[in-house]
Amino acid sequence: SHPGWPARLGPLRVGAGVLEVRKPKLSDAAAWSRVRRRDRRHLEAWEPTAPGEWDNNNAAFAWAGQWSTLRGLARRGMSLPFVITVDGELAGQVTVGNVVRGSLCSAWIGYWVGTHAVGGGVATAAAALVVDHCFADAGLHRLEATVRPENTASIRVLRKLGFRQEGLFRRYLDVAGGWRDHLCFALTTEDIPSGLVPRLVAEGRAEHG
Ligand code: ACO
Repeated sequence: SHPGWPARLGPLRVGAGVLEVRKPKLSDAAAWSRVRRRDRRHLEAWEPTAPGEWDNNNAAFAWAGQWSTLRGLARRGMSLPFVITVDGELAGQVTVGNVVRGSLCSAWIGYWVGTHAVGGGVATAAAALVVDHCFADAGLHRLEATVRPENTASIRVLRKLGFRQEGLFRRYLDVAGGWRDHLCFALTTEDIPSGLVPRLVAEGRAEHG
């Protein structure tokens, strides 16, 4: 198995409730589908374009395929895929992908949170748990996050976490049916020697659950 996988992170208490981060389970299908189908309008503008229909791609039967792909990538050390729960209910996902080792030790991080759980510090705290885990336990040195310039909420999450803006990637990612510009943010281990979670707790944005 690969360093840092599998893992269970938290709990942390935030405005929205008690948050935990864990590996995806096959039994997440119904809850995942319910949230994703309900929140199409909230999610579609920011996620990579997928061929096919939203309702089909996000049906309960579609989860088995996604789950098994994520599990395979995680077992090969290429990804650290997590589900976020708030008060035990599925609230979103945080995924670390494209893990490259050797002289890079780098990966990207991405996340979404369902409308029932937004605005309560969930994405920030979940990403902080995952970033600390990647740096302390998974052997990574750098994490990159790309975000559309229009995505004010996600940019705010990255800034709260201390990610620095490093560039603008032109026509970078196929999102919502077109090649979209993305801002590139990054963080390296040197930026946070004592970790992000202790800093969030010190700032009063989270408490140990
Ligand atoms: N304008 C300005 N600020 C906003 C807006 C807005 N329209 N909406 C939210 N915010 C602020 C909030 O006030 C909060 O900041 P604050 O703590 O200073 O008040 C911050 O944005 C959100 O922080 P959290 O509460 O930690 O985040 P939340 O759990 O609400 O999730 C997320 C944010 C993940 C962006 C959620 O809205 C979502 O899933 N959106 C759709 C999918 C998406 O965009 N994913 C990110 C793609 S980019 C990437 O993965 C790197």
